[in-house]
Amino acid sequence: MSEHWWRDAVIYQVYPRSFADANGDGMGDLEGIRSRIPYLAELGVDAIWLSPFYASPQKDAGYDVSDYRRIDPRFGDLGDFDRMLADAHAAGIRLIVDLVPNHTSSEHEWFQAALAAAPGSPERERYHFRDVTDPEVPPNNWQSIFGGPAWTKTDDGKQWYLHLFDASQPDLNWDNPEVHAEFQSVLRFWLDRGVDGFRIDVAHGMVKAEGLPDTGGDGTIEMIGTTQAPFFDQDGVHDIYRTWRPIIEEYEGDRIFVAEAWTDSAERRSLYLRPDELHQAFNFDLVLAPFSAADFRKAIDSEIANNAGVGAPCTWVLSNHDVQRHVTRYGGGAQGLARAKAATQLLLSLPGVVYVYQGEELGLNEVLDLPAEVREDPTFFRTGGAQIGRDGCRVPLPWTREGSSFGFGANGSWLPQPAEWGALSAEAEDGTEGSTLEFYRAAIAIRKAHKATGLTWLADPGEDAFAFDNGALVAVVNFGADPVPVAQYGTEVLLASADLVDGQLPGGAAVWFEK
Ligand code: GLC
Repeated sequence: MSEHWWRDAVIYQVYPRSFADANGDGMGDLEGIRSRIPYLAELGVDAIWLSPFYASPQKDAGYDVSDYRRIDPRFGDLGDFDRMLADAHAAGIRLIVDLVPNHTSSEHEWFQAALAAAPGSPERERYHFRDVTDPEVPPNNWQSIFGGPAWTKTDDGKQWYLHLFDASQPDLNWDNPEVHAEFQSVLRFWLDRGVDGFRIDVAHGMVKAEGLPDTGGDGTIEMIGTTQAPFFDQDGVHDIYRTWRPIIEEYEGDRIFVAEAWTDSAERRSLYLRPDELHQAFNFDLVLAPFSAADFRKAIDSEIANNAGVGAPCTWVLSNHDVQRHVTRYGGGAQGLARAKAATQLLLSLPGVVYVYQGEELGLNEVLDLPAEVREDPTFFRTGGAQIGRDGCRVPLPWTREGSSFGFGANGSWLPQPAEWGALSAEAEDGTEGSTLEFYRAAIAIRKAHKATGLTWLADPGEDAFAFDNGALVAVVNFGADPVPVAQYGTEVLLASADLVDGQLPGGAAVWFEK
């Protein structure tokens, strides 16, 4: 047993609108989540990270919050929240909620008050407003992460306001003490309700470089990447976390912060994990890495070395609601699924924490052919369809082989599901030998009984393959196409993502041996 639950937990991301729909409005809800807690308990996860469920006009699927202390009626109410939390806790599952401090919705009362007030007013000081000098030329060259300029003019044409994301998501001004006070109060609101922590959205945002200087180039910065920008990963952001840490520590129950921080190096990311700041930060290197032994090994080594430097756990992730599902990233079809299972098995044997995105335990693929008229991601609209956006990983889960939206809800789902997904439903996979769901259940159970204490590389079994001892078991992963011999690593197989043939591990597969 490690000292803190969050140093080696398996944490399951629930995307509320696409998980389970109890009230039959086509969109998931808190009561739907509550009804599926037994499923999550059986999967063996330690905690849930819940993407935003707050009051929101849903211009960015809830990452545009209009009231941080209210539940969006589409998802339920505070009573539903309390019941869901109580059931999760009763099942031994912790709950982490999403906090969105970089920006509010334009429908938030603060932004509405800012629009109603005059330039230079205290209301406008909570955001980044700048006077219009030339109506064609914004205050700087920053581009929105979702495409197009990061500045929009107020209706009277007198001022611009900054939005790194959609125009409906104005950036807050973190130089303003009122903003600090408000978020400290929001933290306490949810901590008082009993949540076990927060995932911090755009945790590397919030603080902007003094004077809002132009970026290099044409101002285009990808969020999912490692480019430096005057609005990301500024040193001042750490001061905010130093004020948050003492707040969470006041509460009992070993509660945590996990950062979504895209930085240009693992070293910069580890700064968020200094002992007086945050507990975990997603490692996105494996999300960006091609399926290759060399790329994975490099990312693993760098995460382990940098996080050890600050005493923080490694935090592994392959999929989430912003990136293409890893089955599809690895080529799709049978090969993509085989590789995805191998990569997952690898993650589950690394030292540290593993995040699982809903549906990956069913082997779901990215849905690439959603028609334009059902798409909701602002990226799609702001790039005029040039980027299809993230809806394809947000398609509602299939729970049953047949029926309306495969058991997601009684009246269809907000995004259409592929016809083949009945065969990937939880019902179809439950108890089925060789299913992805049974594979995840077995892998998580074995992981719990064999807790990694470190990582020692062993001699490579082949060119595009590696092997290591994690202190509790020996893992071999074959990224290449050809089988590799594995008899030298052990005799007793704990779990294999694909059957060994004549003592050889097939391409795109992983195996764990008893030590
Ligand atoms: C984060 C979220 C993403 C959202 C963006 C703006 O990256 O994960 O879904 O669109 O922040 O809040």
